[in-house]
Amino acid sequence: MSAEPGQVISGLEGVLACESSITYLDGASDPSVLEYRGYNIHDIAETASFEEIAYLLLEGQRPNAGELEAFDHELRRLRHVPVELTRLLEMIPTYAHPMATLRTAASFLACLDPEQEATGRAANEKKARRMVAQFPTAVAAMARVSQGLDVLRPDPELGHAANYLYMLNGKRPDDASTRALDTALNLYAEHELNASTFAVRVVVGTLSDIASAVVAGIAALKGPLHGGAIDEAMRMIMDVGSVDNIRPWVDRALAEKRLLMGFGHRVYKTGDARAPHLRNMCRALAESSGEPRWYDIATGVEDYVREQKRIPANVDYYAAPVLHYLGFPLNLFTNFVASSRVVGWSAHALEQYDNNRLIRPRTRYVGLREQEYAPAERS
Ligand code: SDX
Repeated sequence: MSAEPGQVISGLEGVLACESSITYLDGASDPSVLEYRGYNIHDIAETASFEEIAYLLLEGQRPNAGELEAFDHELRRLRHVPVELTRLLEMIPTYAHPMATLRTAASFLACLDPEQEATGRAANEKKARRMVAQFPTAVAAMARVSQGLDVLRPDPELGHAANYLYMLNGKRPDDASTRALDTALNLYAEHELNASTFAVRVVVGTLSDIASAVVAGIAALKGPLHGGAIDEAMRMIMDVGSVDNIRPWVDRALAEKRLLMGFGHRVYKTGDARAPHLRNMCRALAESSGEPRWYDIATGVEDYVREQKRIPANVDYYAAPVLHYLGFPLNLFTNFVASSRVVGWSAHALEQYDNNRLIRPRTRYVGLREQEYAPAERS
């Protein structure tokens, strides 16, 4: 779609705002296609580790064994957050929105970096790797502080996903849980020019620093039409409560024209390429936990909504019960998404720095003009 002169494209729908070699996305074909750096998501989501996917997205190519080992070691080394972060988290009132807390924590961590204003590809890659390593530590710390539990130090013997679950739950996870988290992290790591990634590119376009851009990404992700839908999806599944209640619940919601969280997508019209993999992980966790209820309700609602309204489930829909099975508190689901998406935000930031042009669109002015100004009268 290209705009006629003077035409406004509401929500920039279908507008091509930049060139990119990070993600190929075709949401109109059936089935839809999603590729990271040319690799189909169906070939990598359930088998690759998050470290491999993060390297692929940030560096632009698959790591060889030596590169992966070096990258993994660096992430393990960078995981630690200074004790001041725990103090900051304890100072933030409990009524603060968890994404507001993460936004503040990300900004604070960036301020502690003595090289925060260093520029150039190498400096930005280093800052990106630090954020990728530290965000899970910050999110796990938020979860522990909010539950009145001690914050746990990262375990250097564990890979990224296993350590994330360890810092969250205080015990080393089983293989099914680690695989499920790796898969969720892989699927959330990047998604082309979604609203938060666009916000990141706008900030980078001014040549501001990469951490400021990522903070803008967190701010955009917070909204309920974007990352903020995921906990609402879980609330919906919980509210349905039982398989028997699926039809009456969905019928009522549709009659009341309620927005079903975890359904629909601006780009995917035939189904979100990521959803089937999260459905697989949800089934695996339902089996390994011996608690099939959330999986049974989720699949039943998905099938019935598709039948009634033809709206497919998006990435958030099965990610919600997956995160619930894994022990993430409901109010930190969007924070989890940010702790993965920081990879995509960083990859787009690096790409924008490499080929930058200030992003500055125009408005079509519809207000009053040429008004005569008279000073306000004093009473
Ligand atoms: C993410 O862009 C990305 O890539 C984002 C993301 C990523 O990885 O970064 O994929 C992550 O943000 C996933 C989306 C999470 N949000 C939700 O689950 C919230 C619920 N979904 C919607 O509000 C909606 O589907 C959007 C916002 C996601 C997309 O909306 P669009 O493209 O603006 O479409 P629309 O709102 O104009 O809807 C078109 C029609 C409408 O019906 P009609 O008025 O034409 O009759 O579809 C209906 C809508 O009412 N519809 C829904 C619906 N989604 C669309 N009806 C009920 N429930 C829904 N969820």
